[in-house]
Amino acid sequence: MVSLFLVKIFHWVYQWRNPKTNGKLPPGSMGFPFIGETFEFFKPHDALQFSTFIKDRVLRFFADFSSIHLSFFRTSLFGDKAIISMDMELNLEMAKANSVPGVTKSVIRLFGENNLFLQSKESHKHVRNLTFQLLGPQGLKSRMIEDVDLLARTYMEEGARNGYLDVKETSSKILIGCLAKKVMGEMEPEAAKELALCWRYFQSGWFRFFLNLPGTGVYKMMKVLFVQYTEADISWQARKRMMKLLRKTVLTKRASGEELGEFFNIIFGEMEGEGETMSVENAVEYIYTFFLVANETTPRILAATVKFISDHPKVKQELQREHEEIVRGKAEKEGGLTWEDYKSMHFTQMVINESLRIISTAPTVLRVLEHDFQVGDYTIPAGWTFMGYPHIHFNSEKYEDPYAFNPWRWEGKDLGAIVSKTFIPFGAGRRLCVGAEFAKMQMAVFIHHLFRYRWSMKSGTTIIRSFMLMFPGGCDVQISEDTEVDK
Ligand code: HEM
Repeated sequence: MVSLFLVKIFHWVYQWRNPKTNGKLPPGSMGFPFIGETFEFFKPHDALQFSTFIKDRVLRFFADFSSIHLSFFRTSLFGDKAIISMDMELNLEMAKANSVPGVTKSVIRLFGENNLFLQSKESHKHVRNLTFQLLGPQGLKSRMIEDVDLLARTYMEEGARNGYLDVKETSSKILIGCLAKKVMGEMEPEAAKELALCWRYFQSGWFRFFLNLPGTGVYKMMKVLFVQYTEADISWQARKRMMKLLRKTVLTKRASGEELGEFFNIIFGEMEGEGETMSVENAVEYIYTFFLVANETTPRILAATVKFISDHPKVKQELQREHEEIVRGKAEKEGGLTWEDYKSMHFTQMVINESLRIISTAPTVLRVLEHDFQVGDYTIPAGWTFMGYPHIHFNSEKYEDPYAFNPWRWEGKDLGAIVSKTFIPFGAGRRLCVGAEFAKMQMAVFIHHLFRYRWSMKSGTTIIRSFMLMFPGGCDVQISEDTEVDK
């Protein structure tokens, strides 16, 4: 019995380490059964460098970390078999050829199995089109900029009264405030408060653990109840709670004929126009995904951007000049920002592009392969997860002195482009980020309001990466009312 058991175990381990393939697998190792190389992958590292996990393997298998060709290896992460690629051509090819998003089982559980973003190509295409109505340049121009401007101004004034503000948290509040209004319309104050609490309790790192074990990020995320607003009282599932809240708001509003937000009007209006109606369940799940993705990206990138600005006095000075000019150009002191103002922020957009370039030391093309894929001598099997890193952002032939933060390198370039052969912070192909334009606009508006004051970032602010960007010492800026620029 024991030997049979041992043989089975050895067989299982052997199979784990030597996955079945129809050709030759890329070099690499599958690590320990089930756990794979997940823990090494997540080791925190300097956010402006690639991790040692990546560097070591590229050097081991390809000898040259600066080469942009044919550097990809196999591994296992989050319980899935994966390919990590530094090869830009391969990344773009994969982005074009595959449309299944490379999210792990734990994340799928969090998003909901029926989530339209994860379902058929048709439903995915359809929700993307709907989203662009709200978040494409036309939607931003006509609907969003006003709200983002007002929220940014309000929170900045509040920060100035308090003497400081946390960039990541403030950006998150602006984002959720703005999206919640566009999606749900005006909400009951109690419901709005509860939604905000859900986000506050949202555990960073929820994506890390593929096991739904007590104590892990996913588990906590799934089990939040805000009885007395303390974590100790958490005993319901956060996801369910948020979904329930969103669903209730939608149903109540629909029943009473009250206005929903524009986004729901777009969703329901479109679907009804086509003779079918998106179920409330699907719509709510979709909205939830949307909030989740938005909230985990822009606030962190913005906090990193403010840190870069703070570390580069010349950049800060140039931004000061640009934003003072915009404020001075306003007939009324309190006049809101217009789309034209935003478009006139050339240097700010150069700073944002440079920040997006240099902070991209994480994969930005994430797919599950739909078919076996032949690359040179190697076969990448169908069903494997593909993680494409924008290593090209650090190639010295494309970007001179690539590890330096230098916004001036974007002078004369197309600042509106969100993807090119040398720039993929928002991914590429059929899954290209739908919130890219919105994120850039939100960051620019935030920077504008920050520069209405003299500000400084808390010394000792550091950025590390453990897949996501993290700020161990916080990301506060000191800011005060009496330093308002036009006072
Ligand atoms: C600076 C901020 C942001 C960055 C760096 C970013 C980056 C990305 C990346 C790398 C992808 C995957 C693309 C791929 O696999 O090819 C993605 C997808 C996505 N992003 Fe963003 N994102 C940001 C902000 C936002 C915001 C603000 C929203 C929503 C309001 C958003 C919504 C989405 C959605 C819904 C997807 C999935 C698209 C699909 O599967 O079709 N993102 N984003």
